Parts: sequence; structure tokens; C-alpha cells
Amino acid sequence: MKKRRPLVAGNWKMNYTAAEAAAVVQQLLRAVAMREDVDVVLCPSFLSLWRVHDVLKGERVQLGAQDVFWAASGAFTGSVSATMLAEAGVSYCVVGHSETRGRFGKLEVPENAVGYFAETDETVRLKIEALLGHGIAPILCVGETLAEREAGQTDEVIAAQLRGALAGFDEAELAGLVIAYEPVWAIGTGKVCEVDEAERVCATLRHELEAMLGEELAERTRVLYGGSVKPDNARALFDQPNIDGGLVGGASLKADDFSKVIAAANA
Ligand code: 13P
Repeated sequence: MKKRRPLVAGNWKMNYTAAEAAAVVQQLLRAVAMREDVDVVLCPSFLSLWRVHDVLKGERVQLGAQDVFWAASGAFTGSVSATMLAEAGVSYCVVGHSETRGRFGKLEVPENAVGYFAETDETVRLKIEALLGHGIAPILCVGETLAEREAGQTDEVIAAQLRGALAGFDEAELAGLVIAYEPVWAIGTGKVCEVDEAERVCATLRHELEAMLGEELAERTRVLYGGSVKPDNARALFDQPNIDGGLVGGASLKADDFSKVIAAANA
């Protein structure tokens, strides 16, 4: 029996028009028997939020966004605020994804680069603050690159990302926080992190949370694994004591695959 209620979130990234998204959500709702004891979240593109929100009315699946800008309003061309997300019925929002972090501080996007949008630990922190102000639960992503893993820096990198993003918040403010461990080298590559190693890193994140914000928050916070989660590996990952579900990219795009991943969290 898990200590925490499992959560499975589908990050659709830049896939599907609003019409396509609505159709896939309808297929998903037909394919899966949603259970009371698992939270399911779908994160479509900004432009699909309202449409998906309408399809999800009265259903047990919750709506998530993939990013947010931290200011309440103003001259920030192209950005979307937490107020706007809350109005569209968003309950969760991904922040600090390796695709939005600006790991190398470069503006060009070389092939195979990560970090397109120059997000930093400080801007991730500001985004979390904006979300909490609107009752939206942040899904904070952390994870190391292959070079950082090979240099033996994994634990240090994820701890620094966690500390930077959560600096200054207290335990009560972070009650709804969700963390996602997403090793950058495992995202969209089909290379899943070994189950034991994913569990070890998720446990390390929980210890880090405990050191920062106390045992109660650390025990309550859901820590997800993300990176090539598929129907055939989800069960083994979700069975781990410190892995409370998944943040799923590619396998969340097809109703059939995603319903199997959700079923793996029902165990
Ligand atoms: P994949 O499941 O496609 O590897 O993507 C993981 C991810 O980045 C989810 O946010």
C-alpha cells in the first residue's frame, strides 16, 4: 500500500491541435476506468486548454499546463499568466522541464540541445510562487544531463535544482507540490533509467526535501519519475516505495498506451 496517492500526468508537449486533443481525451475517457485512488492529469498545449477543459467536465481527469509566466500581467509578449491558467480550469502546471530550462544559457537551439527557453532555478521559483498564488499545484521537474551523470554529479545537480526552485517557501505553502525526476538523457530517447536507480534518486529527492522543509512535507509530497515511461515498464517503476507515479511524454499521446500506464498506477 502506497503512502501517497499515485499521480500520472501526461505531458503532451507541442502535439495536437485543439480538435485533435479533444478527440484523444474522449478516446482516453472511454479506454480507462478512472479510479478514485489515482490522480490523472493531462497537460495539453495552451491553445487546447479550454477545449480539453470542456471535454473533462464532470470527469476524474484533471487539467494541467506545461508552463507559466510569473508576472500577473503586462508587456510580456507571448506569455501566459497563472491567472489565465486558473481561469481555464488548470489544477497542475509543469515548471522547470528540461526542455524549458536554459541549461547552457544559449539562445540558439543546436540539434539535440536541451533548454530552449532559458528557464533558470530563479525563474522556476518565481513561476512556483505565481502558481501557488492561484491554487495551482506545481509539478517541479529536476534532472541531470548525461554528461552530469557520467561526471558523478547527479545528486548534486538535482539537489541544487530543488533548493533553487523552493528557496523561501514554507511547508504550508508547498502542501500541493509535486516533484518529477526526469533524467534528461531518458527523455524521448527510449532509454529508461534503471528502476533501482530511479528509486534511489527519488528517495534522495525526498531526503533533500526533508532537510529543507521537514519530514511531514517530505512524506506527503509526490515524487514522480519521467523519461521513456511506457506501458511495459510503468508497473515496475510505480511499484517502488519512493516513486508515486509518472510524468509521461510520448506514451501519453495515445489513449491506448496512456490508459495502460494509468492502469499500472492502480496496482
Ligand atoms: P517521454 O516520456 O517521451 O520520454 O517524455 C518524458 C517527459 O519529458 C515528460 O515531461
